[in-house]
Amino acid sequence: MMMPRAVRQASQPAEYRLFDQLPPPSAMLDEVIAGLTQQPKRIAPKFFYDERGSRLFEAITGLPEYYLTRTEMGLFDACLPEVHDRIGGGGCLVEYGAGSSVKIRRLLEELQPRTYLPVDISRRHLEQSAQALHADYPHLSVYPICADMTAPFELPAVVAGLDKLGFYPGSSIGNFEPGDAQAFLRQVATTLGAGGRLLIGVDRKKDVNVLEAAYNDSAGITAEFNLNILRHLNSALATEIDPAGFRHRADYNEESGCVQMFLECVKDQSSRVDGRIIDFAEGELVHTENSYKYGHEQFADLAAGGGFKVEASWSDADAYFTLFLLIAQ
Ligand code: AVJ
Repeated sequence: MMMPRAVRQASQPAEYRLFDQLPPPSAMLDEVIAGLTQQPKRIAPKFFYDERGSRLFEAITGLPEYYLTRTEMGLFDACLPEVHDRIGGGGCLVEYGAGSSVKIRRLLEELQPRTYLPVDISRRHLEQSAQALHADYPHLSVYPICADMTAPFELPAVVAGLDKLGFYPGSSIGNFEPGDAQAFLRQVATTLGAGGRLLIGVDRKKDVNVLEAAYNDSAGITAEFNLNILRHLNSALATEIDPAGFRHRADYNEESGCVQMFLECVKDQSSRVDGRIIDFAEGELVHTENSYKYGHEQFADLAAGGGFKVEASWSDADAYFTLFLLIAQ
């Protein structure tokens, strides 16, 4: 017998299920070795986020110099009611990177989705935050997906057919090279389907002193966060790279329009990485992160190349940060 939709939904209890699509440690190790045998050496920023790294990043978001998070959240007051007017409740919210629980709680409360899919590479961080949300929002089904979102991944079949809103806050899109950002957006557009929307936070180009202060905080938390990438590799992949042999560097590269983070080697040293020895020279820079900053038009063009049209945008009075609501073509 067919039941009215409302009755059927109410009788369906909210679910919790984790989907593990994480690549095996051997694939991570191959990627790290490839980066460390390259000139200049590099370690991809996704390796920041073990449990401690995720916690250090949360601490960064509260730093006085790190204007990004509070500026983005300040835009929610104007943005979220308008997004709700456009899409209504009951849909499926896909969060790219299970970041700050403060942000996601605001979205859950103001947008009232029925299903929430956080995607994150750090399994423990993902499970902890997803379980807490499942406990606090009894009518919300929560399907955490443990995956490297810089590679293609699948949404579980349970959300096929639901209207989708992607959420990619914090200007994490800035970690990609612009060409890769476009390819990533194209992948997101495919995942969300035509008509699917993406609410994405983008850090804007601004005074170099403001930018550099945000990545060189006086409490030294960003330095800890940067050095933690080595501790993470050591514990996850049994590498032996001494974090004390490196120091944090972050500079704005005007030409490419990004803040670049490095670990600067403070003395000649050799480290064991899976049976091989990697040499580091004093003064050598190991690249760990780019954080691209965009102009408004520049980002709209990038989004268009990624298969999205700008439907609306919200910026603060200083134009430090913009939330874009994009719609997949
Ligand atoms: C999470 C990638 C947006 O680039 O601002 C913070 C990470 N790195 N401080 C950023 C970060 C150093 C952050 N994103």
